[in-house]
Order: sequence, then C-alpha cells, then structure tokens
Amino acid sequence: MADLTIPEGGFWPAPEIPQPNIYPMEWRVETEKLAAIYEKSKRMVWNPADLPWDGLRAEDFTREQRLGIMYWFAVLANFDASGPAVFARATIQAFEKHEEDPVRKCFFSITRDEMNHEECCQRTIAKLWPGGPLNWSPSDDLERAAHNNIGWLYHNGGRYWNGYNAAVGKYSLPVLFTSFMMGEMAASTLFRGMSSGTQHPVFGEMFQRIGRDESRHLQICMTILENEWPGLTDDVRTLITRQLRAGFVFLSMILWEPPEGFWELPPYFLPNHRVLMDHARQAGLGVLSYEEQAENWRVAMARVRAIVERWGIAFPAIPELDLEGVPVDFIDPEDIIPVF
Ligand SMILES: [Fe+2]
Ligand SMILES: [Fe+2]
Repeated sequence: MADLTIPEGGFWPAPEIPQPNIYPMEWRVETEKLAAIYEKSKRMVWNPADLPWDGLRAEDFTREQRLGIMYWFAVLANFDASGPAVFARATIQAFEKHEEDPVRKCFFSITRDEMNHEECCQRTIAKLWPGGPLNWSPSDDLERAAHNNIGWLYHNGGRYWNGYNAAVGKYSLPVLFTSFMMGEMAASTLFRGMSSGTQHPVFGEMFQRIGRDESRHLQICMTILENEWPGLTDDVRTLITRQLRAGFVFLSMILWEPPEGFWELPPYFLPNHRVLMDHARQAGLGVLSYEEQAENWRVAMARVRAIVERWGIAFPAIPELDLEGVPVDFIDPEDIIPVF
C-alpha cells in the first residue's frame, strides 16, 4: 500500500462553503416522529394506474354527467396540479436551508403523493372527456359554460402561483406551514367526505387513498409546526391570522363555494358552477350537498381554530360559516399559499 501524503504543517482546511448551498452533507435527525412518518409514506405508496379503470366507462354516464365529472376534476386539478411544483420548491428550500433530514424527505414524499393525485385528475378526465380540461371545442351552451368557467379558474390559479413564488422566499417556516396545514386539513376533509358519498368503485378507492395521503400530509405539517410554533412573535401571529383567512377564501372553491374577496370571476360563474356541480353530483361522483359541504368545512375550520388558538394565534372571522374571530379584510394573491 502506498504511503499517505501528509503536508508539512498538517492538512489544509477546505474552503468555507458559501451559504445557502443546495445540499447539506449530513443526515441530521432531530424529529424522530417525522422520520417515522416518512417510512410510513414509503410503505403506503400506491399507483394511480392500478386503480380499476376498466370499471370507469364513458358509456355508463350521460353527456351532462361526464361533463360534470370532468368539470369537478378540472376544479380539483386547479389545486392539485400545483401540488407537485409547490412541494418540489419547498423541498429545494428545505435543502438550501439545511433543514434536518426527515423534513427534506417528508417534503419529497408529499411531492410524490401530489404527483399521484394530479395523475388521478388526468386519468379520469382522459377517460370521460378527452381533451379536457381546456383542449377541446364546446358545441352547446352547457359545454361552453363549462369551458369558460374552467378558463376563469385557471386564470385565478395563475395568480396564486405568482403569490406562492413570492411567498416561499419571504415567509418563515411557521407561516408557510400554517398555510400548508390548512390546505391539508381541507384536503383530508374533502376526500373523507367524497369517499363516503361516491357510488363508484374507482372513485371510492381513489378518494380513500388520496384521503389517507392527505391525512399523512396533515400529520407532517402538524409535527413541523409543533417544533416551530413555540418561538412565534406577535408579528408572525398576526400574519398567520391573515393567512388562515386567505386559505379559507382560496380553498372554498373546491370544498364549498368561492366567497367574495379574492376570486376574479365573471358574474355568471357561480350559477353555472352550480349547474355543473349538480351534474357531477347526479353522476354519483360523491360531491356532497351545499349544506353538507358547509358543515364539513365548518368542522374542519373549527379544528384549525382549536389548534392555532393553543399557540396564541387569533383565528380570523369566517362569517360565511358563522365562525367568529378577528376581521381580516382584503386578500391579495400574495397571501395565498395553501395547497392540497
Ligand atoms: Fe396534500
Ligand atoms: Fe393532494
């Protein structure tokens, strides 16, 4: 064996690494619970391609029902299709900031899961309405209404993406994660409700699996927040109150109906949205009634309120659901962070 080379005066120290650099060189574990959740996420992985798609046949539905289902998945995709990119960016951020290893891994697993959720939108739409959400030509008023509404939704989704891009660098982890937590609370609530309401085996299995993923995402957010919340300042608390209201305003589009204050929509959007949702409902997709949706959303928001109030964070007023709290006025797109 050759001899070691040892310079006179000892080894030269390697240069300092300029920060932030993309990757830490160690696998620091501070939160065992997150490491355990990541292990669980690997064991629970599923493949959307393996759902019993043969059981989803266009001919089992009327044209209006197929359009309604496509419309619902287009609304969902407006949220879920941002998921992979949002969490991929959060993953990069966690690497740059040298967050502990399980945080990086958990974000990666959420990115993975969200890609699956998006794929469910993609596959369902491809089966029932080829070319959807937007790449098809409507041929009557109902189809034109659906196509036009989806265009307006997409416009608003674009506004949210700009806001998120600005927010990732601007907000601290507790602010970002309270918003994520709200999104995951919403998502787990939605899919739990839908999986109990659907009459279709493909959607039943899909919603159950997505719901399980979303509950795990919620667990990840809560575990991270339990680490972050004790150090909150009053400024950050105020910001979080605002974010919670922003989350409600944004997520209501898929959980219930869009409130005033953020959405840029033409006056005919909501009545047509209701007609299309009714077609999806009648198709047996599992879309709950207006009142059931409101009740589920109220319960979910009340859970969020109980969680944040423990940490001295004021809850925003949600008069739409008769929830009292601190009034929060105007929401601008940069306030919107939550994703599924
Ligand atoms: Fe999620
Ligand atoms: Fe999701």
